[in-house]
Amino acid sequence: MPTVALTSSEPATLAADALVIGAVSVDGVATLVRDHGLPRKAATHISSGLQTLGATGKAEEVTGFVAVPGVKAKRVLVVGLGKGTPATAPTSPEVLRRAAGAVTRTLSKKAAVALALPTTSAEAVAAVAEGAYAGSYAIRKLTAKDPAEPKVERIEVVTSLSDAALAKRVEVLGAARAWAQDLVNTPPNLLFPQSFAEQVTEKVAETKAKVTVEVLDEKALAKGGFGGILAVGQGSSRKPRLVTMTYKPRGAKASVGLVGKGITFDSGGLCIKPPTGMVTMKCDMAGAAAVAATVIAAAQLKLPVAVTGYLCLAENMPSAEAYRPSDVVTMRGGKTVEVLNTDAEGRMVMADGLALASESHPDAIIDIATLTGAQMIALGNRVAAVMANEDSLRELIAAMGTEAGEPMWPMPLPEDLRATLDTPNADIAHKGDQFGGMLTAGIFLSEFIGAPKSGKDDERIPWAHVDIAGPAWNDKAPWGHTPKGATGFGVAGLLSVLESYA
Ligand code: BES
Ligand code: MN
Ligand code: ZN
Repeated sequence: MPTVALTSSEPATLAADALVIGAVSVDGVATLVRDHGLPRKAATHISSGLQTLGATGKAEEVTGFVAVPGVKAKRVLVVGLGKGTPATAPTSPEVLRRAAGAVTRTLSKKAAVALALPTTSAEAVAAVAEGAYAGSYAIRKLTAKDPAEPKVERIEVVTSLSDAALAKRVEVLGAARAWAQDLVNTPPNLLFPQSFAEQVTEKVAETKAKVTVEVLDEKALAKGGFGGILAVGQGSSRKPRLVTMTYKPRGAKASVGLVGKGITFDSGGLCIKPPTGMVTMKCDMAGAAAVAATVIAAAQLKLPVAVTGYLCLAENMPSAEAYRPSDVVTMRGGKTVEVLNTDAEGRMVMADGLALASESHPDAIIDIATLTGAQMIALGNRVAAVMANEDSLRELIAAMGTEAGEPMWPMPLPEDLRATLDTPNADIAHKGDQFGGMLTAGIFLSEFIGAPKSGKDDERIPWAHVDIAGPAWNDKAPWGHTPKGATGFGVAGLLSVLESYA
């Protein structure tokens, strides 16, 4: 994992494999931003080179130079920042985060990289470092010959700011996100409920995070009445698990429950998916991966907030033992649910997780899940949806996620859709009409949220639901700091939300 440091040294004097500076696009021509800090002869050399090469300065364009006069680094990489003027380069943290990631994505072999990009705030400095870290993610190829080598070994951000806590936070967040990506990228023959639970236990030990891990196996799940997780998991030979990760610092200012969908493979079950829809379904545990990584990060950063993560792990498979459409399942807490489509399995496992999270009456519950195809239809592949039973929590999460580089957009839970879940056969059906499918799924989940500790029976614990079906996985070309495959979406946003409670 790369190390992160801030430095106030002259960029030209830094011994790095790559020194990164920024260029803006002025009338379609790449123009160096003014505060690159390089000696004049270096800047002249690079500027004329940019012209010769026809660089435009558009966002994420990377142009490389070697043997730049007066510069110690082996290479100078100029990254485009988009339209702007050389004096007032775009310093929005998001532009910088993506630019830094676009550069480190092109590196290889444990590079030492120094970034001298135009930053005018601590947020901007953090964004540069975060983007550089995330862009360095290398997928772990499963061959003996080719072990994963991080593309970057050392990240230095040039700034007059000195802030050890900032660098440490970038390291913790970066490693947590990369671990979540590793879990999601792991093929589903190797990552299943039991092995997922083992990986969590191992990671907690390895990071020495003050987190306790409790794993419920299928027998314990039956004893605890977790009907939803058991129903989904019963079709697979690899039985379901519910993992509870507890971080409980002394003097915690608040308590938050995080619940993650952990379907290690979603075939659809008896309502089997077509092959094209199935091939990416190892990503269906991305919510649980984000929760696990966030709990560990919160503990490593010693946030004064109690955080409990609930990972609802099952494999959704068709078999002679699989659950069926029209089954009625008794969930944790006693509600009965009529199953209508075995491919709507996420809400079944999440409902048990939410019911369990409610039992300890935290100040807030946030769930995160690759829950519905409707989420992608509504918001595409880069923006998640947030629904909540409280306006302020929904707005908080949408704002924190977006600021952290994970765009999240508020969505409603329209009351009239509740009636589409009515059924004569059980307390509630688990799916309604096709239209508004993301919202109905949210409404279904809301039914499993309990009352606050000292609240009346009809009050509810503040709860929000984040649907990441689109942004959890990148099928397309890499962009910004986002590689192909698992994105680690959710870790940065959830960590920011937890910090806002601290
Ligand atoms: N895991 C899928 C949702 C999904 C689809 C995530 C594509 C990421 C990419 C979920 O379990 C599912 O199959 N949902 C169904 C629900 C429907 C049967 C009510 C869907 O959205 O089609
Ligand atoms: Mn499904
Ligand atoms: Zn699913």
